Amino acid sequence: MATVEARQVRKTFGEVRAVDGVDLVTREGEFLVLLGPSGCGKTTLLRMIAGLEAPTSGEILIGGRIVNDLPPRARKIAMVFQSYALYPHMTVFKNIAFPLKAQGVPKTEIPKKVAWATGLFGIGHLLERKPRELSGGERQRVALARAVVREPAVFLLDEPLSNLDAKLRTSARDELQQFQRRIGITTIYVTHDQIEAMGLGDRIAVMQGGRVRQLGTPAEVYGEPADTFVAGFLGSPPMNIVEAAADCLVGFRPEHFLPREAHDGSGTLVALGFRVTRVEYLGADRLLYGVLEDKFPDAKVIARLPSTVALTYEGGRRYAFAVPEKELKFFHRATGLRTAPRPV
Ligand SMILES: Nc1ncnc2c1ncn2[C@@H]1O[C@H](COP(=O)(O)OP(=O)(O)OP(=O)(O)O)[C@@H](O)[C@H]1O
Ligand SMILES: [Mg+2]
Repeated sequence: MATVEARQVRKTFGEVRAVDGVDLVTREGEFLVLLGPSGCGKTTLLRMIAGLEAPTSGEILIGGRIVNDLPPRARKIAMVFQSYALYPHMTVFKNIAFPLKAQGVPKTEIPKKVAWATGLFGIGHLLERKPRELSGGERQRVALARAVVREPAVFLLDEPLSNLDAKLRTSARDELQQFQRRIGITTIYVTHDQIEAMGLGDRIAVMQGGRVRQLGTPAEVYGEPADTFVAGFLGSPPMNIVEAAADCLVGFRPEHFLPREAHDGSGTLVALGFRVTRVEYLGADRLLYGVLEDKFPDAKVIARLPSTVALTYEGGRRYAFAVPEKELKFFHRATGLRTAPRPV
């Protein structure tokens, strides 16, 4: 096993700064997610770790050793892309055995290793089929088995589940996590899907514009965002952010913005008058769209009420809402960075 480290890694393509000074260290056996919007540099960073792209500057380390000059096959990594390709004319067995053959593994060893890899993903019964005789999810698992059969030290995955339907995605996510826990392989997983990131990651590196904005556990990046970008990127709907003063913004999550009577009474509450403009019913929750009155006049905000709150709301009317004081997050207006709490 091994850790992966990026030290001040940059990659420019002409004028484009695809990766703009990333410092990152995984822990041994960790599941680390790179999360960020399209174009933020996730794939480029992963390709540099894999050795498929040379950094413009900076260092990549695997297992504590600088690997900038090592070719991909010498890095003990396996990578699965969004558009993984199986060999259509080969059976599942041959597809998975292929990298072993290429590596010169003795013929008698190959079936044992293939059995191990297919066992991990529960596809041992599909060995004689061709890819076109498999479902999308099964093909996905074959691609993953093929990637791990060489027992890599690091597993790099670039949106490997994105061409599965929603239901298959959930089960594939579950299998992937179980597999990763079982063999404890250091994994870097790229996605722009925050649900996937929150569910899979031991830690999440939230990226934007070629930089890592924050690296932390799912609870840290969600609950204690380092800046307004992270606050606005995570959560659906995202954190409400309103102007608190000339140089200061204040944010609070829609699920903490509740009618006064729905708060449990522990801790200090900050009262906010809320004029509801629209109600959206989502089954388990209701979203109330509207604007604040009094303290933050006309600031647009959203409240998320669990459907267990049985109060009724009408568009156009004003209601007494509140946020627990400890749930207010403050940001410096010019830089967007978190600042110390202050009275509102
Ligand atoms: N070979 C290349 N030549 C020029 N520009 C490139 C090249 N590869 C990537 N870029 C640019 O670098 C930036 C980062 O691209 P990258 O593919 O790393 O983004 P990403 O975060 O993986 O996005 P997505 O979620 O859409 O896959 C983008 O602006 C992209 O247009
Ligand atoms: Mg990408």
